[in-house]
Amino acid sequence: MHCDIKDRSLADGGRRRIDWAWSEMPVLQTLFERFAADKPLAGLRISACLHITTETANLARVLQAGGADIALCASNPLSTQDDVAAALVHDFGIPVFAVRGEDNERYYQHIDAAIAHRPQVTLDDGADLVSELHKRGGPTLDDVTEETTTGVIRLRAMAADGALRIPVIAVNDADTKHLFDNRYGTGQSTLDGVIRATNILLAGHTFTVVGYGWCGRGIANRAHGHGAHVIVCEVDAVRALEAAMDGYRVMPLRQAAAESDFIITASGNKHVLDATHLETIKDGCVIANSGHFNVEINIPALQNMSVEVTRPRPHVDEYRLNDGRRVRLLAEGRLVNLAAAEGHPAAVMDMSFANQALAVAYLRDHALPAGVHRVPAEIDNEVATLKLAAMGLAIDELTDEQARYLASWREGT
Ligand code: NAI
Repeated sequence: MHCDIKDRSLADGGRRRIDWAWSEMPVLQTLFERFAADKPLAGLRISACLHITTETANLARVLQAGGADIALCASNPLSTQDDVAAALVHDFGIPVFAVRGEDNERYYQHIDAAIAHRPQVTLDDGADLVSELHKRGGPTLDDVTEETTTGVIRLRAMAADGALRIPVIAVNDADTKHLFDNRYGTGQSTLDGVIRATNILLAGHTFTVVGYGWCGRGIANRAHGHGAHVIVCEVDAVRALEAAMDGYRVMPLRQAAAESDFIITASGNKHVLDATHLETIKDGCVIANSGHFNVEINIPALQNMSVEVTRPRPHVDEYRLNDGRRVRLLAEGRLVNLAAAEGHPAAVMDMSFANQALAVAYLRDHALPAGVHRVPAEIDNEVATLKLAAMGLAIDELTDEQARYLASWREGT
């Protein structure tokens, strides 16, 4: 089978970790049974550009059970788990094109390989695959799903320019995705990445979060739980107010930088931590990014202002500025939760990827016009219902009288 991975001999360990994650993914397990019986994706060629992790392996397993012919490439050069890639090839017969630490050229060669699979449907995380397809004058594919905020923003921009030629389901916008994955998943795994990389105590330290969206909320909440003094920096007045009323200090980043021991960006924006903030940054500050692209921290500016760079620990580059202050950059400014840790816990990806699997099946049954579409409410509701059941939680039901009462308000009677 044509593939490009680091080392097939890693497959055993990868398979054990994939199975470990599987045990935390009861919604995907349910879908696996259903897809294996009904084969809703029979013969469908899918290329997925996702982080190559144990959770993605389990999504691939479900799509394959549904009858899909799937190929995978990485959506980030530093997030690939090489043992998982090996197990996907060896144990599941799924072609994978991804090697942890691949350079830009190889990253795009891998996207080429995913395109050569001649997908009818693509699954994207950041919209790199679908943008490449558009650049080449294509796409010839039928449908796309998109996993993350930044990818959805890119695709909406293409739609607004009239450039998007296919229907896309914005999986990120499902409530059972961003309310849980972006908040609790990014919250826990970002802290995990920062702690694994540095092993510095958070309690009593000042921890600044730049961007108070769903990811930023989760990161701030988890840092607070560790006993850190949390500061939030925002450009949106409503979100800044929300952060203030959630109990955090709110101030401009230039001011926060002077007293922060940690600064984490999660804004989906460029150079939010810039030269102007490095001018005031506290000596020894740890900086990291959890937004999709590695442009949130202005690394060229950091390099220009520095006289020396050392690597005291894996994933930590210590820059010495010309006035002697030290700035510790984690994971080269790439997604710290995936580069320095293992990404989101499986239990939360269970819901995100259940949305992906159900969205692909939905796209097969429904011809949608070109444009960015929401995940149908019934899918969101089904994922939540399956997850609650798996957690052993029951909820109340409306009585007939209550249902009629609420309906009468909606109908204005
Ligand atoms: P969001 O759109 O809900 O929030 C982003 C926030 O950043 C907004 O409130 C915006 O006002 C703020 N912001 C923008 N520019 C800013 C600036 N210069 N200074 C301060 N605040 C600024 O987005 P969400 O869902 O929180 O995602 C954020 C990023 O994280 C995206 O790139 C997304 O793709 C990525 N992401 C990363 C994950 C991971 O595993 N690390 C998981 C999910 C999303």
